Amino acid sequence: MDTKEFVVFIFLGFSFLAQSTYCFNQTCSSEDLRALDGFMKDLERRIDGWDNFFDCCSWKGVVCESFTSVMEDTNISSTSRVVSIELGSRRLQELFQLENLEILDLSSNDFSGFLPMEVNLPSIRFLDISRNSLLGSINGNICATAKQLQVLILSSNCYYGEIPAGLGNCSFLEHLSLSSNFLQGNFPEELFSLAKLSELDLQDNMLSGPLSPSFGNLSNLVKMDISLNRFSGTLPDVFQNLRKLKQFSAMTNGFRGHLPASLTNSPSISSLRLNNNSLTGPIVLNCSAMVCLTSLGLSFNQFNGPIPDNLPSCQQLSTVKLSLNKFGSHLPDSFKNFKSLSHLTLYRTGLRNLSAALSILQYCKNLTTLVLTSNFHNEAMPADFNLKFRNLMTLVIANCGLSGIVPTWLSGCTKLQVLDLSWNHLSGQIPVWFGKLNFLFYLDLSNNSLSGDIPKSMTKLQSLICRNFSVENPSEELMFFIKKNPTLRGLQYNQIWSFPPTLDLSNNMLTGQIWPEFGNLKLLHVFNLNNNYLAGLIPTTLSEMTNLETLDLSYNSLSGSIPPSLVYLTFLSKFSVGYNQLSGRIPSGGQFLTFPDSSFEGNKGLCISLSSSCSAGSPKGTPFDSPEAAKDSIIGLPFGFGAVVGFAITVSIGFMSGWLIPKAETRNCRRPIRQRRHQALVRQR
Ligand SMILES: *[C@@H]1O[C@H](CO)[C@@H](O)[C@H](O)[C@H]1NC(C)=O
Ligand SMILES: *[C@@H]1O[C@H](CO)[C@@H](O)[C@H](O)[C@H]1NC(C)=O
Ligand SMILES: *[C@@H]1O[C@H](CO)[C@@H](O)[C@H](O)[C@H]1NC(C)=O
Ligand SMILES: *[C@@H]1O[C@H](CO)[C@@H](O)[C@H](O)[C@H]1NC(C)=O
Ligand SMILES: *[C@@H]1O[C@H](CO)[C@@H](O)[C@H](O)[C@H]1NC(C)=O
Ligand SMILES: *[C@@H]1O[C@H](CO)[C@@H](O)[C@H](O)[C@H]1NC(C)=O
Ligand SMILES: *[C@@H]1O[C@H](CO)[C@@H](O)[C@H](O)[C@H]1NC(C)=O
Ligand SMILES: *[C@@H]1O[C@H](CO)[C@@H](O)[C@H](O)[C@H]1NC(C)=O
Ligand SMILES: *[C@@H]1O[C@H](CO)[C@@H](O)[C@H](O)[C@H]1NC(C)=O
Ligand SMILES: *[C@@H]1O[C@H](CO)[C@@H](O)[C@H](O)[C@H]1NC(C)=O
Repeated sequence: MDTKEFVVFIFLGFSFLAQSTYCFNQTCSSEDLRALDGFMKDLERRIDGWDNFFDCCSWKGVVCESFTSVMEDTNISSTSRVVSIELGSRRLQELFQLENLEILDLSSNDFSGFLPMEVNLPSIRFLDISRNSLLGSINGNICATAKQLQVLILSSNCYYGEIPAGLGNCSFLEHLSLSSNFLQGNFPEELFSLAKLSELDLQDNMLSGPLSPSFGNLSNLVKMDISLNRFSGTLPDVFQNLRKLKQFSAMTNGFRGHLPASLTNSPSISSLRLNNNSLTGPIVLNCSAMVCLTSLGLSFNQFNGPIPDNLPSCQQLSTVKLSLNKFGSHLPDSFKNFKSLSHLTLYRTGLRNLSAALSILQYCKNLTTLVLTSNFHNEAMPADFNLKFRNLMTLVIANCGLSGIVPTWLSGCTKLQVLDLSWNHLSGQIPVWFGKLNFLFYLDLSNNSLSGDIPKSMTKLQSLICRNFSVENPSEELMFFIKKNPTLRGLQYNQIWSFPPTLDLSNNMLTGQIWPEFGNLKLLHVFNLNNNYLAGLIPTTLSEMTNLETLDLSYNSLSGSIPPSLVYLTFLSKFSVGYNQLSGRIPSGGQFLTFPDSSFEGNKGLCISLSSSCSAGSPKGTPFDSPEAAKDSIIGLPFGFGAVVGFAITVSIGFMSGWLIPKAETRNCRRPIRQRRHQALVRQR
């Protein structure tokens, strides 16, 4: 495939820290000037409009932006950096023949097809071509000329074949990223001789075979991620040689066997993620040795034995994810002393005695996130008034068959942001004090036996009216993981604050009316009241919930007509009022043009479509996807499981309305068609 007609649109992401920040007014930084001069040097002719010798920001097609950097001490300085260049039609080939070029960042463009194989970049130190749709195999000869190469980032493209052994000749390489491609085969031994390598990203490929013990030769390695591949065998016992290794991530592979002793004694490892493998044995960490460990992810393996009771003696450990293993049934008493614990997920681990577990965990003053879903079958929800979780922000105890009422001690969890008690047998009324939880923005009480009116205080939930929860304090730990919609690839990690604001009271026995004041909840995205006994009218004011994406009022006893004002809900993409006693005309216009008939069926007085008579509602199907299949995956799980089907839907909607911060990463690997022009420039910082 030729590259002749590429419109070259370079985005310089500048992963290098701004070093010398000379701040000429509106002048491009000296580094950028040098890079662009280097680029121009070998062109047949100088580019029109690139005349001014000092100020590359004034060059035609070059856009600069001011970056602020904090210098040593506290001085803040601002530098103009080149953020985009439009060159018009020009061969990419030329870019790869620039003898003085040191930094080339072509990331996040629409480049497709093959890169030129003849590369002559003797000065290049930094090469980033990530997030394009480039095809073919990786050029293993690149370091025949690019001898100085320190950073090579080819992630999120469509590269296939094996990783070339020739990269082993890039002896200055410090950072190699090949993630999110279609690479397969073994990882070549030759690359284990890259003595300077400190960061290696291989996640989301199809690499296979065992991890060679030569891996221990990478003695400068700090960060290694081989998640989402097909590596197998046991983990080599070579971690004693990896004295600088801080992050080791090998989630979703086929690793078997025990955790190697050198790993469970590593004094450098701070983050260890081995979720979704087939590792076995008891978890035995030497906390006297693992002095840096802060995050431990061992979910979805075949570990057995008790939940390790020595974890509290790992002084820095704050995140513990042990879901989906076969542990004994009790939370160790020693967890009372787990001062550093902030995040604990124990989804489906066979845990018993919720009452005992909570009375232990309340001593963990730093606990902010607790996920205990699918345990404790058919116990009672502890009603002990003295339970105190002052710092708890996320509590998920779904699908446990718990009986009793919504406990009063929750009213003392004043920092609560996310609460999921769905799929239990809780009865009684929804307490009035919910309205006072100022940070609560995700509440799921669905599928319980709650009765009575919906308390009016729920229409006053502060953080659904104006955003006031501590977004400024996102936990450093990446909590949730979902696969984005199928056209996008790569991992999507989510933090709590990226959840769609939700009020789900569906599948209960609630009576009374839908308060018109719910219109106040302008920030709500998902509002589900379906399958209750709610009566009365659908309030016109619901149209004021301007961010609403999902509204399900089906299977109630609502009467009157559908308020025409609802057509103004411009983000609404899932809507159902099926199976009520509604009458009159279905509003037309807005999003209502997109809703299927099933959104309205089961209402005797409602005209479903122009062709059918006003009295014939066809009683088939449920308006929404059956939840049956969904709930095995409850929010708060470490990966994949993170998404209830319905939740996944709301999340993907969230992308549209900007609640979530999507990493734009569209790749089109099937059709290597030239894109004529770059549409939207995506900034990755
Ligand atoms: C930058 O330009 C502004 C106005 O254009 C001027 O007031 C300021 O003094 C200049 N700063 C420097 C460092 O040249
Ligand atoms: C910070 O800025 C002040 C005034 O602009 C200057 O006197 C001082 O030397 C600067 N400090 C550093 C560390 O650059
Ligand atoms: C590394 O370079 C040498 C000499 O340039 C060459 O002989 C060798 O084949 C290269 N190694 C690989 C693995 O390509
Ligand atoms: C790793 O180191 C060992 C011992 O120093 C050496 O024998 C082996 O060849 C090295 N492997 C690689 C791939 O460099
Ligand atoms: C645990 O680590 C400490 C400190 O490194 C060491 O002295 C001790 O021997 C280790 N214990 C075991 C059982 O390996
Ligand atoms: C508890 O959390 C606070 C704030 O995040 C932190 O400063 C403190 O070190 C933590 N305590 C422990 C024992 O880790
Ligand atoms: C739960 O544990 C407590 C002690 O912590 C005990 O008194 C109680 O009987 C246990 N309940 C069940 C159902 O095992
Ligand atoms: C409600 O929860 C139960 C488990 O407690 C589950 O079997 C059932 O499918 C759920 N029903 C709905 C409608 O979600
Ligand atoms: C917003 O939060 C701040 C501090 O977290 C609090 O003082 C203030 O009252 C809150 N505002 C509202 C409207 O709840
Ligand atoms: C776990 O790994 C298997 C393959 O090893 C994969 O098919 C599955 O999707 C993974 N599950 C999650 C939740 O990532």
